[in-house]
Amino acid sequence: MKGQEWYQEQAVAEAYESKRFSRGGRLIDRREKQAVLSALGPVDDRRILDIAAGTGRFSMMLADNEANVISLDISRAMLTQARAKERSIRHHGSLNFLQGDASQLPFPDDSFDAVIAMRFFHLVDRPIEFLTELKRVASEVVVFDTFNRYSARSIYNWALPMGSRLASHREVAEWTDEAGLELIDVDVDWILPYGYYRAIPLSIARLTRPIDAGLVGLPLFNRLATVSYWTTQVP
Ligand SMILES: C[S@@+](CC[C@H](N)C(=O)[O-])C[C@H]1O[C@@H](n2cnc3c(N)ncnc32)[C@H](O)[C@@H]1O
Repeated sequence: MKGQEWYQEQAVAEAYESKRFSRGGRLIDRREKQAVLSALGPVDDRRILDIAAGTGRFSMMLADNEANVISLDISRAMLTQARAKERSIRHHGSLNFLQGDASQLPFPDDSFDAVIAMRFFHLVDRPIEFLTELKRVASEVVVFDTFNRYSARSIYNWALPMGSRLASHREVAEWTDEAGLELIDVDVDWILPYGYYRAIPLSIARLTRPIDAGLVGLPLFNRLATVSYWTTQVP
């Protein structure tokens, strides 16, 4: 499993957000949160499990929207960052952190209304096994994202520290089918590489983002999008 050890490092955990979501990367953070909220619909008073929660970006947004959230990650270092961040903000729901392995969740079946797993499946060797476990504890919805096989990322994937599992839409449809989940919706985005957004100031990113978002709306370019946001339902 890619990244299980990588994210245990304190220095990696400390730099996680600033490396990815500062400067133009703030637009990526915002888009991912919007994808999660639109997939889940109203979250107030809903029980949500955030898998591989990392520094808690989604957990805190969901708790702020009055959800009851459990934030699970295998890395103590990432959870330490999340706890520190939580102390500095106020939210309206409930939020609990738990160190654990997403392949063996310490919860009975149907414990949550919804389960999310963002930026996780590109690290996973056995996606069907993980998806089946996520589905087991969800009673309604499972939301996750993947990096696309036929995207700009496939050109530079080899150069990334860990590389990523890239998946085609057909593969993900097979995973969900095998895991017993119904595919409800998929949204795609980002033609330009994430590295581009991270490298430029937010003000410039705001100017070029509409071009990227416009391209992704065109049928041909749509197939080159880097990320897919998946909404699946427990039948
Ligand atoms: C790229 S980070 C994503 C964090 C967060 N979801 C986000 O989008 O900001 C991947 C996370 O997966 C966690 N992880 C890796 N393997 C895991 C496992 N088997 N169970 C739970 N978490 C795991 C890592 O510790 C890391 O925090």
